[in-house]
Amino acid sequence: MDNPKFTVPVLARLKFIRTMVMQKLGDSKKLTEPETYNYSSEEAEYGPFKKNNRDNSGNKLIFGGAYDPEFSEEEKKIFIKEFNSLTPENYMKWGMLLKNNRLGEYDFSNLEKIESFASENGLNIRGHALIWGKVPGMGYPVDLYEKVLSDLNPRKRMIEIMDNHISIIINRCRGSVSEWDVVNEPFELSGSKFDVNPFYRILGLDYIKQSFWTARSIDPDAILVLNEQFDDYKGTRINRFLDLIDRMLEEHVPLDRIGVQSHILFTKPAIHDLYNFLKQLQERGLQFEITEFDIRIGLFIRSDDPFMVQANYIKDFCQVCRDFPNFRGITFWSQFDSRNWMDNSMPFSLLSPNAPGLFDTLYRKKPAYIAVASSLLNKQ
Ligand code: G3I
Repeated sequence: MDNPKFTVPVLARLKFIRTMVMQKLGDSKKLTEPETYNYSSEEAEYGPFKKNNRDNSGNKLIFGGAYDPEFSEEEKKIFIKEFNSLTPENYMKWGMLLKNNRLGEYDFSNLEKIESFASENGLNIRGHALIWGKVPGMGYPVDLYEKVLSDLNPRKRMIEIMDNHISIIINRCRGSVSEWDVVNEPFELSGSKFDVNPFYRILGLDYIKQSFWTARSIDPDAILVLNEQFDDYKGTRINRFLDLIDRMLEEHVPLDRIGVQSHILFTKPAIHDLYNFLKQLQERGLQFEITEFDIRIGLFIRSDDPFMVQANYIKDFCQVCRDFPNFRGITFWSQFDSRNWMDNSMPFSLLSPNAPGLFDTLYRKKPAYIAVASSLLNKQ
């Protein structure tokens, strides 16, 4: 399979270059090596996350992580101890479920490993993601667009292919997956335009509604999620996203929950903006989850104690979320500093270690872990 390019639009690149220059030229300190980091004794008091994982109404909160079957035994052990939910980082993406990445034959061998790990350890699985128009070869099969265009009726063919995929996967996972990122990232990576992906090019915004209707028709009980990333929580992108939700709700599209990815990469979103956005979701009666939380240490590298300042921001972030009754939990995307997508993905790999997680490279709980546990667990 061609290595899919994780393209970064101009605006994101410019933001990043500014960040990088500031980081390189500023009085940034070298990240303290975990071996020498002075951890407080506090860590023993908190966790594991899945202890007391109920909100005030008694609903079970999701505490999850991104899971890869290639985790080490140590990583699997920590995962089982700490989390009650997993999201397959890559292996449930359309392209990764196919033999030779071509439409048609599925290879469920990796999915079976994930399902076994989850069922043996009582873990919820978040299905990620049924329809995702980015990263050709991963989000969708590399031959999808050509196949559809070669048909006499591309629109009808695209709907057939999407419906077929959604029904095969939901039926195949019935009993092991009850929550789906039905559509992932309908917006472009950065900015406020819709992602011009193969689904959008053929069907326009109907691809989003079509995906949710099909998923609902296959599994009437599944939790159906629209999942998106935001670099900040105010402005045109947020307003456009809320407009999209309103249109879906007006047309009674079966949307249950909003996935707020929360990769904190270029800037630290203002906490009051996060509050205002989540309030908008609550007022629409929509549940929400933080679905892919991680936070680049580079944003704090100029402070005396980057790990601690990273943790303080996380604590504020989590405290805002927990006060909403419709908050359904949090999934971390790079829980282990030793294994995180940023260190392997341009442009963030230029500034690794990005140390975005809860456990340092020696698998010790960072202040970030304590920030999450103390802000979410102490609610019980
Ligand atoms: O497994 C191959 C390996 O064999 C090969 O040597 C290597 C070099 O080309 O590539 C490896 O595959 C990479 C895969 O991650 C596993 O590491 C792909 O190239 C790479 O594109 C893929 O990146 C993933 C990315 O989504 C694109 O699918 C990241 O791991 C994953 O963390 C990231 O997750 C996304 C969410 O799905 C959606 N929200 C944003 C989030 C971060 O980008």
